[in-house]
Amino acid sequence: MNVMHVESYEQMSRIAANIIWAQIVLKPECVLGLATGSTPVGIYKRLVELHRNGELDFSRATTVNLDEYCGLDGGHPQSYRFFMNRQLFDHVNIEKARTHMPDGVAADPQTECRRYDVLIQSLGGIDLQLLGIGHNGHIGFNEPGAEFCIPTHVVELTPSTIKANSRFFASDEEVPKRAITMGMGAIMAARKVVLAVSGADKRDILEKALYGPVTPQIPASLLQLHPDLTVVCCVG
Ligand code: PGA
Repeated sequence: MNVMHVESYEQMSRIAANIIWAQIVLKPECVLGLATGSTPVGIYKRLVELHRNGELDFSRATTVNLDEYCGLDGGHPQSYRFFMNRQLFDHVNIEKARTHMPDGVAADPQTECRRYDVLIQSLGGIDLQLLGIGHNGHIGFNEPGAEFCIPTHVVELTPSTIKANSRFFASDEEVPKRAITMGMGAIMAARKVVLAVSGADKRDILEKALYGPVTPQIPASLLQLHPDLTVVCCVG
């Protein structure tokens, strides 16, 4: 693993964006695994800048996002589809039909999970997966548990995740309690993984994830086994 400690959120964003930029230049028809949350906002901003400067062409790229809340459709301002459109997709030349997310309002969430795994396989897997990390070590919405969950699955969000995400909602009660998340299988099968981490409050969990035991209690710890992991962090 390659761990880059940087000074600022801006540097982290610029470096992670550069890696994604390089991926698209090397393979314009690549499959990018993307993430939501506060951490990647600066990365997407930089990618939009690069596109506006005429340096980055998304026209042949495909994206698959990590997760979506159950019960929120793409028009809901807190849905991850809405976030991705607003932060990135609306501002670059990517065809919306090639931007994939789990469907949070699918009639049968289990069938939706299977569909998502088949879709990722049919795309040939993920070339580069961008990740953040939760304070409890979650990746996507792979929450701490008794075992690593390999396929896309429906997850009951932990109280700490609901609390952390309530900052985007009017109250804790409004945060959906379930989500569909890509499993650790597709994430670990990505050919390259970039983990972006920002904030002193993430220092302890990052340390445990990268240098502690590999355990499903800290889903991100499985990344220690990934053959091409780059961590870009500003954690003080
Ligand atoms: P954050 O979320 O970027 O908003 O801190 C990361 C995560 O929970 O995966």
